[in-house]
Amino acid sequence: MLTKSAAKAFFLGGTVICAAAFVFLTVDTIAQFPDRSHEENMTPEVIHGFEIWTENNCMGCHTLMGEGAYYAPELTQVFRRRGEAWMTEFLKDPQAFYPNRRKMVQYDFYDAKKVGKEEAAKNIADTIAFFNWVGDIDLNGFTGDPNNGPEQDIEKAAAKAAAPTAAASASVDQLATLRSLNAVCAGCHTIGGGALVGPDLAGVANRFDAKYLTKWIQEPSTIKADTTMPNLGLGDAQVKELVDFLLTLK
Ligand code: HEC
Ligand code: HEC
Repeated sequence: MLTKSAAKAFFLGGTVICAAAFVFLTVDTIAQFPDRSHEENMTPEVIHGFEIWTENNCMGCHTLMGEGAYYAPELTQVFRRRGEAWMTEFLKDPQAFYPNRRKMVQYDFYDAKKVGKEEAAKNIADTIAFFNWVGDIDLNGFTGDPNNGPEQDIEKAAAKAAAPTAAASASVDQLATLRSLNAVCAGCHTIGGGALVGPDLAGVANRFDAKYLTKWIQEPSTIKADTTMPNLGLGDAQVKELVDFLLTLK
C-alpha cells in the first residue's frame, strides 16, 4: 500500500510527465507541418483553390484527407487519379460525366456562361492547383486510394452483372487494356458498358480508320471544335499504341 503522501507524489509526478510528453508531441507535430505539407508550394493559386473548397462546403459531400462526408469520392489523390485535362473538363460540366447517377453540383463559378470564360478558367485552374498540392502532403501513409474513382464501381457492377457471357468478359479485359495504356481515357470511356461522358468504344474500329483516330486523339478540337474530349498532349508512340488497340475493337 502507498502512503497518502506517496500516492500524492505519484499522482503529481505522473501528471507532470504525461503533460510534458503531450506538450512535446504537440510541438513536434506542429513543427513538422511546413515540411510535410510542402508549405513552399502554397502559391496564391493553391490558396484560392482552398478558399473555393471551404467556402462552398465541398466537404458536405466529399472527404479530403479522410475528413468530410461520404456521399461523394475521396479527393486527396484526385489529381493523380485524373490529371489536369480530365479535371478541367469535369469541373466545367460535372453532371455530364456520370449520367444517371448521383450528381455533383454544377457550380456557377466554374461555368463560362455564368461568370465569363476567364473567371471560370481561373477558378477551375486554382481548384486543380489546390488538389495537386493536397496530393503531395505527407500523410503518414494515408493515400485515399488513387484508383478509386466512381467509374470503377460502375465497371465492377457491369462486370458482375454481365460476367457469364464471353462477350462481356472480353469487354472487361479490353477495358483493362485501355486503362493500362492510358487511365485517363478510361475516366471518360467504357467498352461495352456505356455509362460515362464519352461514347462507348465497343466497335469503334468499324466507325473510324487509323488516320482519323490518330488525328482525333492528337487534337480532338480540330475535328470537333466544342468537344469535351481534351487534348492530352500524348507522344506519337503512345498515340500509335492507343490507335493500334482501338483498331482491335470491332
Ligand atoms: C452535393 C454533393 C457534392 C458537392 C457539394 C460537391 N461534389 Fe464533387 N462530386 C459529387 C459526386 C456525387 C461526384 C461523383 C459523381 C458520381 O459518382 O457519379 C463528385 C465528383 C467530384 C470530382 C471527381 C472525382 C473523381 O475521381 O471522379 C471532383 C474533382 C469534385 N467532385 C470536386 C468538387 C469540388 C471542388 C466541390 C466544391 C466546389 C465539390 N466537388 C462539391 C458530389 C458533390
Ligand atoms: C474528359 C473526357 C474524355 C477523355 C479524357 C477522353 N475522351 Fe474520348 N471522347 C470524349 C467525348 C465527349 C467524345 C465524343 C465526341 C464529342 O461529341 O465531343 C469522345 C470521343 C472519342 C472517340 C470517338 C468515338 C466515337 O464512337 O465517336 C474516340 C475513339 C475516343 N474518344 C478515344 C479516346 C482515347 C483513346 C482517350 C485517351 C487518350 C480519350 N478518348 C480520352 C471524352 C473524353
